[in-house]
Amino acid sequence: MRTVHTLKELRTMLRGYRQKGKRIALVPTMGNLHEGHISLVRRASETADIVITSIFVNPMQFGANEDLDLYPRTLQEDQEALDKAGSTLVFTPSNSEIYPEGLARQTRVIVPEVSEGHCGASRPGHFEGVATVVTMLLNMVQPDVAVFGEKDFQQLAVIRKLVRDLMLPVEIVGAPTIREKDGLAKSSRNGFLSKSERAMAPVVYRTLKEAAGKINQGRTDFHVIEEEASQALSEAGLRPDYFNIASSLTLKPAADEDKELTLLTAAFLGTTRLIDNLSLTR
Ligand code: PAJ
Repeated sequence: MRTVHTLKELRTMLRGYRQKGKRIALVPTMGNLHEGHISLVRRASETADIVITSIFVNPMQFGANEDLDLYPRTLQEDQEALDKAGSTLVFTPSNSEIYPEGLARQTRVIVPEVSEGHCGASRPGHFEGVATVVTMLLNMVQPDVAVFGEKDFQQLAVIRKLVRDLMLPVEIVGAPTIREKDGLAKSSRNGFLSKSERAMAPVVYRTLKEAAGKINQGRTDFHVIEEEASQALSEAGLRPDYFNIASSLTLKPAADEDKELTLLTAAFLGTTRLIDNLSLTR
């Protein structure tokens, strides 16, 4: 498996693949890879001949008080895991390769509505940063297909919309959330949890399942269910940021007639912010 750092090297490699008529998949990541990321690489290798994994901790999607500097960077381990999982090429550019004129001068991509609630409300500018870098990565690689995790449900919705709205010629595949045995969604941020916080963390998924169970029993008092879930998280020692029941298609608050619902939550455990979601059909 090759690793390249510049757009020039990436384009040289891509030219070779295209001349041979290969189908190309892209898996964008910020590195510090775990089984969740690796499952995307495996999914990509099932549908394409060439899998390009990008590793770029994108400064544009981090807020001023967020964990950009602390974000774990583990390139060597990541390369070993990607090689085993069937990635063909790793593209790991520097900040100046992606944003040569700096963040302030960079053209940006704004995806209205679907970016606005949930994490978008708590992290202003976050999805603008994600949408911008993903658009750039899709333009740099020009893959046939790109794979993203349902773990970041709102992010996936933002990316599906930007691809539609900007007519980008790429197929977007969503892949299921990979969890620890106790239900905690795998995340690079789980490594920040202390031992006692780690023991508390499975309550996030448990609470999602309990709330989904109430809806499956026929309850439609969504705001009450949201309140009960937030309270359950607080009582377990977490600080809920939001717990929302939304239409899976629009991510707007669930209405009586919606058949496809997604429960989305974010909660702080100490200083670590965990997110998770669960979809159901009524
Ligand atoms: P990152 O958090 O590194 O995640 C990269 C990809 O892995 C995303 O598509 C995410 O949804 C997926 N992923 C993370 N945890 C997962 C899990 N437990 N199961 C399945 N998939 C999982 O998301 C980003 O990076 C960035 O915002 C990025 C899209 C790369 C743009 O900078």
